[in-house]
Amino acid sequence: MADIEAAKQAAAIEAVRNHFPENPRFVGIGSGTTIVYVVEAIKNCGVDVSRVGFVPTGYQSKQLIINAGLVPIEFDALPDDVMIDIAFDGADEVDEELNCIKGGGACLYQEKLVAMRAKQFICVADHRKLQRRLVTKWPTVPIEVEPKAARQVMQRLRMLGSRSPTGIGPRIREGHMAKAGPIKTDQDFFIVDAPFPHPLLIADDLTEDILGDGEGGHWEVEQLAKAIKDINGVLAVGLFCGPTGPEALTAGVVGGQRPV
Ligand code: 5RP
Repeated sequence: MADIEAAKQAAAIEAVRNHFPENPRFVGIGSGTTIVYVVEAIKNCGVDVSRVGFVPTGYQSKQLIINAGLVPIEFDALPDDVMIDIAFDGADEVDEELNCIKGGGACLYQEKLVAMRAKQFICVADHRKLQRRLVTKWPTVPIEVEPKAARQVMQRLRMLGSRSPTGIGPRIREGHMAKAGPIKTDQDFFIVDAPFPHPLLIADDLTEDILGDGEGGHWEVEQLAKAIKDINGVLAVGLFCGPTGPEALTAGVVGGQRPV
């Protein structure tokens, strides 16, 4: 446990040291436990941040900014046409092309809003999170879904091949407490966790329909993200495409120790 915290902290310090701009106006702050170390590293990096506006990606993130004595600015209060200089966020899994799975902490939609408005997106992930292909150790794609549409969305996901190797399909995420029911996001939406067999394999007949002939029977991250996003009722998909994707995020880093 202590090792894991040390790895998160090392990743955060490396990311801030290598990427925090000299004189930023707006900085995005993601959600999760690693981002706590990022905020700590920003506070300790020696740059005067008193005039920087920190853009939160949800309730937890805003509290983190305020408790650190930094100045929060809501996404919808940003001046028109102004980009966020840089956004830092964690991830649940990252592949070698810097595609990420996010949403393990149920913050998703606002994370994507902030990431897509940033000139640079820095994914801060320790060595446990880096895999050659996504959906390796983190077995599901988190999806933020309007509650009334959730059952229909899950049916469509099954049609896209969402099934674990042991036959488990998509599920609405529940709280840890007994009978707590579905958890709600900052938007009051549900999170559906959709398993996809590694490496994002889907049924052959569907592959032909959706991907066309000769595509090899597996999803590329961008294609899967788009197919899920196209389902009515889906607000955001927990797949962030790397620097070459259509939703191009301009940079990324995997901080900390690499896997051996
Ligand atoms: C929240 C997220 C987090 O960034 C992701 O879950 C990583 O969290 P942690 O740093 O605690 O491992 O996407 O929805």
